[in-house]
Amino acid sequence: MLPRRVQAELLDGLAATDPVAARSRRDLKRVHRFMRSRTRLVRKMRQLVPAPAKPLRVLELGAGDGTLLLGIARELAPEWPAVELTLLDRLDLVDGATVAEYARHGWTARSSVVDVLDWARAATGSSAPAASRWDLVIANLFLHHFDGPELAVVLEAIAASADELLACEPRRGWRALAGSHLIGVLGANAVTRTDAVLSVRAGFRASELSALWPGTTGWSLQEEPSGAFSHCFRATRRRTQ
Ligand SMILES: C[S@@+](CC[C@H](N)C(=O)[O-])C[C@H]1O[C@@H](n2cnc3c(N)ncnc32)[C@H](O)[C@@H]1O
Repeated sequence: MLPRRVQAELLDGLAATDPVAARSRRDLKRVHRFMRSRTRLVRKMRQLVPAPAKPLRVLELGAGDGTLLLGIARELAPEWPAVELTLLDRLDLVDGATVAEYARHGWTARSSVVDVLDWARAATGSSAPAASRWDLVIANLFLHHFDGPELAVVLEAIAASADELLACEPRRGWRALAGSHLIGVLGANAVTRTDAVLSVRAGFRASELSALWPGTTGWSLQEEPSGAFSHCFRATRRRTQ
């Protein structure tokens, strides 16, 4: 079995405006098309909340430029109208055109430029504002950036502030590792090629995320492989009658 190893990814060390980083973010969109990330997330989000009774408050952690969720908004908006979406990332990558495109689909998007660990400390602090409650938190290719103790802090903040979490991360295994070494065939640059391998080594398997979830009382947890290379985790707060 591959032991989990978290190492800093090259993209995270580059400035938001660095052309090499911009190219790597474009590579990521190609990887998403290849991995059918949007289709996977739309399916799982529909399962989580088939028919919202009210406009949902959704938070995406590590949202990048916000375009992955934009593709999802285009598909889900008829069933999920008037979503209030917060796109959290430590880099300021969401542009006005993206926000306007969300608005065209009836979703209100705002970006929150903050380190997730600062967000997590604020969300679990005694003065966390009531407005910071989320119907759903999404994390795609994000949680694997953190090792056990940091991850526990982030998961604790999600459990304290949200009713649902959906996370889809790299699956840590030999097949995904082999795939990550072949990502150059999609035209990925050196940063993306290196980070793909690091991501798989930092990915998840079995029940690793469930084991880090802060207590199972009051929550239903589901964790499973998805597609050839992904590993998804879902936590749902049990409704009290
Ligand atoms: C691999 S990208 C994934 C982007 C998007 N979720 C997607 O799937 O296309 C990871 C993102 O996490 C952000 N990130 C990394 N560490 C972070 C941190 N400590 N706090 C907030 N964002 C962070 C990076 O800036 C980057 O945009």
